[in-house]
Amino acid sequence: MNIVSLDKLEVAGKRVLLRCDLNVPLKDGVITDDGRIRASLPTIQYLIAQGASVIITAHLGRPKGERKPELSLAPVAIRLGELLGKKIAFSSEITGAASVVSSLGAGDVLLLENIRYEAAETSKDEAERLVLAKELASYADCFVSDGFGAVHRKHASVYDVAKLLPHAAGYLVAAEVEVLKKLTDNPERPYGVVLGGAKVSDKIGVISNLLDKVNVLAIGGGMLFTFLAAQGKEIGKSLVETDLIPTVQELLQRAEKLGVTILLPTDIVVAPEFNIDAQPTTVNADAIPSDQMGLDIGPDTAASFARAIEECKTVFWNGPMGVFEFPNFAHGTKVVAAALTKVSGISVVGGGDSAAAVRKLGFADADFGYISTGGGASLEYLEGKELPGITALA
Ligand code: 3PG
Repeated sequence: MNIVSLDKLEVAGKRVLLRCDLNVPLKDGVITDDGRIRASLPTIQYLIAQGASVIITAHLGRPKGERKPELSLAPVAIRLGELLGKKIAFSSEITGAASVVSSLGAGDVLLLENIRYEAAETSKDEAERLVLAKELASYADCFVSDGFGAVHRKHASVYDVAKLLPHAAGYLVAAEVEVLKKLTDNPERPYGVVLGGAKVSDKIGVISNLLDKVNVLAIGGGMLFTFLAAQGKEIGKSLVETDLIPTVQELLQRAEKLGVTILLPTDIVVAPEFNIDAQPTTVNADAIPSDQMGLDIGPDTAASFARAIEECKTVFWNGPMGVFEFPNFAHGTKVVAAALTKVSGISVVGGGDSAAAVRKLGFADADFGYISTGGGASLEYLEGKELPGITALA
């Protein structure tokens, strides 16, 4: 499918509604990773240079139609202004912002408050979403979609508004789609995928779709314990999704038939509780004590994952290997990240959490082939699902 590129859209001197993904992690009102804001800059800078008036719409967290002050985009507006090196306007009104919008001059930038304060944004009712989309469309002459992390959402500011205005994909969306195409259309082999994160339920679709495409699949993070449980191992107090054990067993059988190597941990770093000061112990993966929980893959596992990754020509990684926020349980994630930096072909880090993890652990964006801003969006792309925010840009 061909999406309209930004260079094909007439934006000079126009009012442009721009959807960005500015969903950044915040701690006590302070942005802890501004990667998604930085990733949005090229399109904003281009629009400014074209003399457009830029009206940005974005979400933060999941306020579900409520004005939750802790999910205000106000701190993001400040950071965006710092990065752009110019003052940008912020409107706490989302609908009813027409007068602020009309006061914008050429090259001015306005950020609208968290679009998810409006219940209609995420509504399943198309008519409700359309009312909001029409209001947003009334602010602008055209629409640029650059919030890649949200393109898997059929939301008013992502999907419906594209139907109402001349539109194009921003530079970030275009770059993300190009990278994901490299992973799906004839990837260079060996092709390895490393998956982590807490829940198997978030990854079942992608694992199932990737099984006949990859050569190696390495599993870490909280989700690995459902795999160990599926193999009949004791997992102590570790995270588990019991209802998914039969599905995981089927996946393991399918992988065996297809000749796909599924790498599962052989050792685990455990602790008695989920705590930054918890005492770590490394145990064999089939000897997790009943009073302990697994919080990271063990050093032998990390080394074997690293060897497998470094042999691959194409690698996609989504989800931390352990509780990387706690220094005692960050080793696995660090080793996997370091291995990705050594891949001679293409290495892609997917997802807000994984991107934040590699930056927190001291890696630079340039160490990797590509850092995707989309977690769910890139996974759904790899699952082979249609992304509404992309199809709307055709
Ligand atoms: C993300 O963080 O993956 C995107 O911003 C989408 O957020 P959502 O999962 O709340 O829709």
